[in-house]
Amino acid sequence: MEDRWLLEWIRCVKKGADDAVCRGRLIPVGDGLECESCRARYPVVRGVPVLRDAPRAQSVDWFEGHYAGRSRTHELTTDYLRQERAFMAGFLKRSNVSGPCLEIGCGTGLFAETAPGYIGLEYAIEPLMASGFEAADRICGDAQRLPLADASMECVFSFNTLEHVPEVDLAFGEIDRVLKPGGLLVLKPAWHCTRYTTELIPVRSYGELSARQKLVKALLPVIRSRPYKLLTWIPGRVYRRLTRRPDNPLKWRRLTPYYGKEWISDADAAAGIDCHESIIYYTSRGYTCDSHSSALRQLLAGHDVVILRKGGRSSIPVAEEERVPLDAARRHAEALREAGPAATPVALEPAPASGLPADRLPAASRSR
Ligand SMILES: C[S@@+](CC[C@H](N)C(=O)[O-])C[C@H]1O[C@@H](n2cnc3c(N)ncnc32)[C@H](O)[C@@H]1O
Ligand SMILES: [Zn+2]
Repeated sequence: MEDRWLLEWIRCVKKGADDAVCRGRLIPVGDGLECESCRARYPVVRGVPVLRDAPRAQSVDWFEGHYAGRSRTHELTTDYLRQERAFMAGFLKRSNVSGPCLEIGCGTGLFAETAPGYIGLEYAIEPLMASGFEAADRICGDAQRLPLADASMECVFSFNTLEHVPEVDLAFGEIDRVLKPGGLLVLKPAWHCTRYTTELIPVRSYGELSARQKLVKALLPVIRSRPYKLLTWIPGRVYRRLTRRPDNPLKWRRLTPYYGKEWISDADAAAGIDCHESIIYYTSRGYTCDSHSSALRQLLAGHDVVILRKGGRSSIPVAEEERVPLDAARRHAEALREAGPAATPVALEPAPASGLPADRLPAASRSR
């Protein structure tokens, strides 16, 4: 592999005996790559470094099958993600982003031309091999253990993917690790995926369902209504805001994805993620939320694109001599929270707003 630019960013993902990830630099050796630190070897498949270490995820066969033989060139002529592509191109231009820009779960890489210094990351190999995607920088890797250096990406973005990541909180932490201070984060998974969808309750007949599922099916018109969602979401969100702390852990719901023949949108989701919860995950780490700037907008967030900017504080481990300012910053954040109702996100060093008017965001859309 001779792509010097990509070699600058990629890192070893092997775990050592102490469970720490190696993150050594990788150098070309023969047909593959070798870690300078632990000497682990990684294959390179048609120009794509395969930097996965964890056991093969259950979803891989599903997505490999889904993407087999696909043509990116053809997909670019369709309307799929057209609106999102136009949004990302305009947004990155207005934000003066020069890269690198990492797309997590890039599929066939339909955003490649929209992002300067684009790097497409996928767990499955097939989409990375789609015809017409050859010229882009691609990595086969896992969002739960990104094969990238700390604080290396100027922008991280992801569409329709995080709901498929089994331990999605790990992916949230990894995004924070690889994003540069001041970097931009654009997230649009299918938020709020539900157990009733992965159980296919909407399309199954009553005869096929258990007593619990029958009750859920009968209540679906209520459960899916806006008043019900507002009534059940808002109190929990207010509670989460009031009790959040710096480095707030992500609360999410584990789902059992359905990989069978009958299929409805999001039946293959592995995680139910609340949009508001994602916002407070990052704002409690010093990010500012450019897409939902007021507490009210955050509380009412639905199936929205979420845009965050990493603040001055970084959660990347720091050397002992650098720890003092970080602790001071943490105390400052705690003092702010104690001073008043936790209605505003904690932003230690407010970053300049992107100037992105809310009406420039693409309309909320479900995945696929
Ligand atoms: C529904 S597709 C979306 C692809 C593309 N972003 C789009 O919007 O069309 C979800 C993608 O996430 C990828 N994926 C699932 N789990 C992943 C993981 N742990 N790390 C990286 N990618 C993952 C799958 O291989 C699949 O290509
Ligand atoms: Zn290594």
